[in-house]
Amino acid sequence: MKKNIDLKKYLVSKAEYVNSALKNLLPKDNSIISQSMRYSVLAGGKRLRPIFVFLAAEILGGKVKDVLPAACAVEYLHTYSLVHDDLPAMDNDDLRRGMLTNHKKFGEAAAILCGDALLTESFNLITKSNAPADNIKEAIKILADYSGYKGMIVGQAEDTLETGNWSQKSKEVLEKKLKFIQIQKTAALIVASLKIGAVLAGAGNTELKALETYGINIGMAFQIRDDILDVYADKKFLGKNGSDVDNDKLTALSLFGKEEAERKADEHIKKAKRALSIFCDKAETLLLLADYMTTRNC
Ligand code: IPE
Ligand code: IPE
Ligand code: MG
Ligand code: MG
Ligand code: MG
Repeated sequence: MKKNIDLKKYLVSKAEYVNSALKNLLPKDNSIISQSMRYSVLAGGKRLRPIFVFLAAEILGGKVKDVLPAACAVEYLHTYSLVHDDLPAMDNDDLRRGMLTNHKKFGEAAAILCGDALLTESFNLITKSNAPADNIKEAIKILADYSGYKGMIVGQAEDTLETGNWSQKSKEVLEKKLKFIQIQKTAALIVASLKIGAVLAGAGNTELKALETYGINIGMAFQIRDDILDVYADKKFLGKNGSDVDNDKLTALSLFGKEEAERKADEHIKKAKRALSIFCDKAETLLLLADYMTTRNC
């Protein structure tokens, strides 16, 4: 990997690469579900999870183009989670990626079905990766495990059930709950993206363990920053309105306050970086991305 990477330029160019692949993969017909899939997937977004698939594959000697279908699969799955997260029964948000949320544009039924379609199709996409069949099988299992009832879904369930009245519980109980929520609803899909890229490129257990530790910690820091931005960011730049206060959410910001939350995020970043030491200088971009988790503004 080349030295002195300009992270901003790197992220823009990789996001463009992912965007053109997504454009090709999305359905072209005019059914309401196809329209709503295109609407939310192509609305923008940082494409961080596909980039984690690329970087993990590359660190193991794999090629970006071989894992491109898997990278698009995790972006489909992530976008589905956002479409459902914004629904009235969940966070009830009106703005996402700088546009009306899917249900505001197409109606609730279409938004639910759009999410279902993206989720299901993500498993179709991942099978199109260029890797040995056993590696693809393992990647499918990772996506299912980390996004399902043992991963992102249980995190989203706890997050939703934890609204209102949470401040009556002890700080110790709440800290444990918040950690669980951060790991499951957010870090899980980031860990999955890293592991999928790595597994497709033939990673062994030591490398997977290191990427898991990195992913859990940057994922937690990413959600802490998300919680802070929900209140403090310039909303136009953020592309979403911020609903955590209205929904009385248990977040890093509401539980710890800004300063302590930022300190905790920094600790996670340090742990994440330490976990990459086994990759030596091949981890340069992942190290820069770790810092980006706590400095990003959108
Ligand atoms: C938002 O994710 C949802 C969280 C897990 C906090 P991103 O901030 O990566 O959203 P996009 O993909 O860039 O829109
Ligand atoms: C959502 O967390 C995590 C998902 C699994 C989608 P948030 O509810 O904080 O995400 P935003 O702030 O709406 O993007
Ligand atoms: Mg939410
Ligand atoms: Mg939300
Ligand atoms: Mg949020």
